[in-house]
Amino acid sequence: MSQEHVYIFDTTLRDGEQVPGCKLNTKEKIALALALEELGVDIIEAGFPMSSPGDFESVNEISKIVKNASICGLTRAVQKDIEVAAEALKYAKRPRIHTGIGASDIHIKHKFNTSREDILARAKQAVIWSKNYVDDVEFYAEDAGRADIAFLAKLVETVITAGATVVNIPDTTGYCLPHQYAAIISYLRNNVPNIDKAILSCHCHNDLGLATANSIAGVIAGARQIECTINGLGERAGNTALEEVVMILKQHQLGLNTNVVSKKLHPLSRLVSETMRMQVQPNKAIVGANAFSHSSGIHQDGFLKEATTYEIMNPAEVGADTSKIVLTARSGRSALAFRFHKLGYQFTRNDVDTLYEQFLQIADSKKEVLDEDLHKMAESKVTVE
Ligand code: KIV
Ligand code: ZN
Repeated sequence: MSQEHVYIFDTTLRDGEQVPGCKLNTKEKIALALALEELGVDIIEAGFPMSSPGDFESVNEISKIVKNASICGLTRAVQKDIEVAAEALKYAKRPRIHTGIGASDIHIKHKFNTSREDILARAKQAVIWSKNYVDDVEFYAEDAGRADIAFLAKLVETVITAGATVVNIPDTTGYCLPHQYAAIISYLRNNVPNIDKAILSCHCHNDLGLATANSIAGVIAGARQIECTINGLGERAGNTALEEVVMILKQHQLGLNTNVVSKKLHPLSRLVSETMRMQVQPNKAIVGANAFSHSSGIHQDGFLKEATTYEIMNPAEVGADTSKIVLTARSGRSALAFRFHKLGYQFTRNDVDTLYEQFLQIADSKKEVLDEDLHKMAESKVTVE
């Protein structure tokens, strides 16, 4: 099957950093930008230069150091923002300005107190200003997920005519269902006359837990860029998780690929978690501590016979430690035998049967039976014999 490239636009350092308590200094941002470049992302959104001198400095320093990925700076559709972003990006090998404005009537009325016509004019002007500085201009139609679709199409056509190379269709409030988000992308592809001159980008938030599903629906419908963050960090419930979309595209034969080196996902997830002081939930897909742990007897027995019964990917593929057999009161004899064997004990089936009764008593009294408990059980068995 022929493969088409999906650009991975990482916004951990911009949308991800908007999480309360996750503020990074320039040194930390540079370290993460270099790690993201090594991971193989295509674009790094390094910050919002106009927002603070610190963010300006981070975008500026990252622009000097990163060589392969494009470096992107966010702006509002405001001349001063664009000038400042261009200045911050001036050393970048591949600079991109990401400018935009609200597209839904809710934003047009309550944020901008203006008309659709004025939004079209401001959007066009923002792209023209940005084009004075860089070739690569991405336009975001904020809250596109709740915008009037005919107006959104007009807006997209306008900014492409003005020179936008990428058009971002954000589901800013995480409101859409996957089929609705896909329908927006399809509508734009079928109704915007100059759509082939730009790449459509998915930028989905996770307010209903659908950010990843919506982004995948978007690329299946024809978008070719996904905006995402490591560990799904971001405003409110977060953004699309980079590790999730990358592994979905790798696991399923959709004819879509990325340049991400998947075995670097776990180490980078840990680095981001430590640097941003944000723990990853244990059951988080791909990078959570339990993503490759098996604890119930039925699953453990199947997994020990053949890993693919309960694992759809090898932990090594995403740079995780080996799969874990966790011993709990739901575990069975095969898991117990396996763990004893790993600790170097050569027990027969009968031995394990005898030990299992004792194991269940211990397991009922605690959350997890640990190696030290197994050693004690094994020693007491040897002493009794
Ligand atoms: O969620 C959003 O709409 C954004 C834009 C600024 C791209 O983050
Ligand atoms: Zn966002």
